[in-house]
Amino acid sequence: MIATFDVVIRGGTCVTPGGGVRADIGIRDGRIAAIGEIGRDAGGEVIEAAGLHVLPGVIDTQVHFREPGGEQKEDLESGTRAAILGGVTAVFEMPNTAPPTTSAAALADKLSRAAGRAWCNHAFYVGATSENADELGELERAAGCAGVKVFMGSSTGGLLVADDETLRRVMRSGTRRMAIHSEDERRLVERRRIAEEARDVHAHPEWRDAETAIRATRRLLALSAETGRRVHVLHVTTADEITLLGEHKALATVEVTPQHLTLEAPDCYDRLGTRAQMNPPIRDGRHRAGLWTGIANGVVDVVGSDHAPHTLAEKSAEYPGTPSGMPGVQTLLPILLDHCAAGRLSLQRLVDLTSAGAARIFGLVGKGRIAVGFDADLTIVDLQARREISDGWIASRCGWTPFDGITVTGWPVMTMLAGTAVMRDDQALGAPAGQPLRFFEGRRV
Ligand code: DOR
Repeated sequence: MIATFDVVIRGGTCVTPGGGVRADIGIRDGRIAAIGEIGRDAGGEVIEAAGLHVLPGVIDTQVHFREPGGEQKEDLESGTRAAILGGVTAVFEMPNTAPPTTSAAALADKLSRAAGRAWCNHAFYVGATSENADELGELERAAGCAGVKVFMGSSTGGLLVADDETLRRVMRSGTRRMAIHSEDERRLVERRRIAEEARDVHAHPEWRDAETAIRATRRLLALSAETGRRVHVLHVTTADEITLLGEHKALATVEVTPQHLTLEAPDCYDRLGTRAQMNPPIRDGRHRAGLWTGIANGVVDVVGSDHAPHTLAEKSAEYPGTPSGMPGVQTLLPILLDHCAAGRLSLQRLVDLTSAGAARIFGLVGKGRIAVGFDADLTIVDLQARREISDGWIASRCGWTPFDGITVTGWPVMTMLAGTAVMRDDQALGAPAGQPLRFFEGRRV
């Protein structure tokens, strides 16, 4: 008998755009070919998913995988393996590597390094500088490019566009939605002594305070309105920016991270010390509540992890000599599933924030929904599973997580790329087969 499908996922609850439906999914040639009741005679490999939920593959639109130049912290193989173990099927990787991804050659180099070594699908950002500002319109259309990333405030690495004049040039140079690290460099420099005098990570959110973030976001929105360029504000951390961004949804989309939704000052610095240090910082409960308001009222478009591994040796220096950033690609989904279990988030909204939202705002071809014709990139989760997150589970080369010791309810049990399982029961399967992502506004691969 010739099988109708290559693979059939049987009896799971599929989170479709229309809601959760108990249905089988028939997969042919890497794409979803049927959703509904599929007869046992349809053939193909069968994956039993009764009691499980099938989600469109989780897309993490902010990760730092450190290759080239920082392979002691992470590389494209280890970072993407961490991704699939956490139920993530695609990542957008950031340009602050060494050398930074600021040219066509550097972008091509990352794509060739990823070929045959990336466990999940991927796209790479190009970083904006004053030198490449006028070439970005061309660079951002390259195959496998996620778009342009701008650091308005200094963070890890040397990428920086601090002044409005250069930012205006960058914004005028292209058309795709541009991703922004929104902290005001001038205020960061003026206040740096707060960190230096304190020598204590508790001062981190005081140095890089809420005003530092909102000041940059106000400047950004003014320039976005002036130039007509759409922007995506990464890792928003303040209640006030959520309110402001809610008034500018025609210009700006919004990311928050699981760590800003889950941890808060001062407790995180008491418990985790410099492991909780990141930019922009983890803030107090008022701001955390503001981010949850943005989840509830729809202002937030995506949750990205800002996976930013640093070694524990680097983290054990004295603050502020310690690097900012924490790993997160592997824990993004378990942490959000736990928020679902606690009633803070519906599964439908989780899918919007981790898959459909990314596809919608960045124009991803074939991703972000369980629908006929879409790629069979799927994440199967057990909403009942109770598991402890531990450093030992972490595949990232840095070998730690800020969520070590936390027990969560909800766990990814299978990650599937183009109809092939690449993770099952915490094991990576087969060989790395991740592909470059395709965008409606970029050149196709
Ligand atoms: O904390 C952070 N770490 N924020 C950033 O913007 C960069 C990142 C990194 O690359 O380490």
